[in-house]
Amino acid sequence: MPEAFSILIPTYNERENIEPLLTRIVAALPGRDYEVLFVDDDSKDGTAELINRLSAKYPARVEVRKNKKGLASAVIDGFGWAKHDTILVMDADLQHPPEVIPSVITAIDEGADIAVASRRVPGGGTNGWSTFRKITSDGAIMLAHLFLPSSRRVKDPMSGFFAFRRRVIEGVTLAPIGYKILLEMLVTGKAKNVREVPFMFVPREKGKSKLSIKQEIEYAQHLLSLMRRNGVITHFFKFCLVGASGVIVNNGMLWLLHDQGKANWDIRLALLIAIEISIVSNYLLNNYFTFADRHKPGLKHFLANFLRFNLFSLPGAALNWVTTVMLTNTGNLSYLVFNMVGIAAAMMWNFFANSRWTWKKLNTGD
Ligand code: GDD
Ligand code: MN
Repeated sequence: MPEAFSILIPTYNERENIEPLLTRIVAALPGRDYEVLFVDDDSKDGTAELINRLSAKYPARVEVRKNKKGLASAVIDGFGWAKHDTILVMDADLQHPPEVIPSVITAIDEGADIAVASRRVPGGGTNGWSTFRKITSDGAIMLAHLFLPSSRRVKDPMSGFFAFRRRVIEGVTLAPIGYKILLEMLVTGKAKNVREVPFMFVPREKGKSKLSIKQEIEYAQHLLSLMRRNGVITHFFKFCLVGASGVIVNNGMLWLLHDQGKANWDIRLALLIAIEISIVSNYLLNNYFTFADRHKPGLKHFLANFLRFNLFSLPGAALNWVTTVMLTNTGNLSYLVFNMVGIAAAMMWNFFANSRWTWKKLNTGD
């Protein structure tokens, strides 16, 4: 006997969609045990009254919240009201076809902690989207993937159609701003096994979309809030500090080995050694300061991460070495300025590569 689950549907002025939605849900799930829980923000069009009437005929009920508080908070309140251990979230407006529910739930039955109905895997897509909507959606996903590594586990972290096991959010404080509750769960939750199943996001036929420029602004706020809570901003700031110290170590060593008294080594050798010494000092500082919270103990990790760090530093180091040696040979003293530009570019790369692979987040399982 497959496990029972809760279908959680936030609503605001969706009266015309409720009965077609319930009819299609019931038709799509023969022989399954489930409840349909609507969380309505006191709709003005009689949505909640209709659901109450239909609850005699369908396995549905509604919780009404006074004072409209928004989509994400409706969904989070719903987590507390839902009866079952597996919760599926979807929209009421039929843009999420109920016929897709079985494949999402099957992924959970097969062991996924989160299963996402995705527009961005083969077989999935969107229908009737303007070029503008496509570009903003691509941009939103790119930003999330760039700044929040744990969102890279899915191609469609913006989907509002997904299911999960309660254990994913146990002990986790969810604080989304706006619409993107799945993104919030991917980044702050405890999911190890995440799967995507395809679906086609179809145009809305009845009622109105509540999406507006307000949601775009809220998305930017949400992204920043997740970056802050996830430590990305602190990590980046500390990484830059350490990078700056590395510039001093690098130039200081170069000066000692190349310019000073008896040493007077050839610039090519002196720079090579200066660069490596600054890589070592950067590594130590990043390991015990910048990423102290992700630091894994043990010599094995220390050495493996040191190798990784050197590998990622290679492009920047090569750039540094080539520019400095070349400019020094032409006798131009402004080589330090060029050196700084090269170092800045290298630092962006170094940060993203190392926060992704060298000091990756501990509990995301990716
Ligand atoms: N309770 C409550 N309160 N429900 C709301 C609110 C609110 O303030 N605002 C919207 N809803 C409900 C709607 O009634 C609908 O069931 C669902 O949330 C989605 O709202 P739409 O207005 O239809 O959103 P959308 O189609 O633009 O956005 C959907 O697709 C996006 C991906 O393109 C949502 O699923 C988003 O989560 C998703 O990111
Ligand atoms: Mn919609």
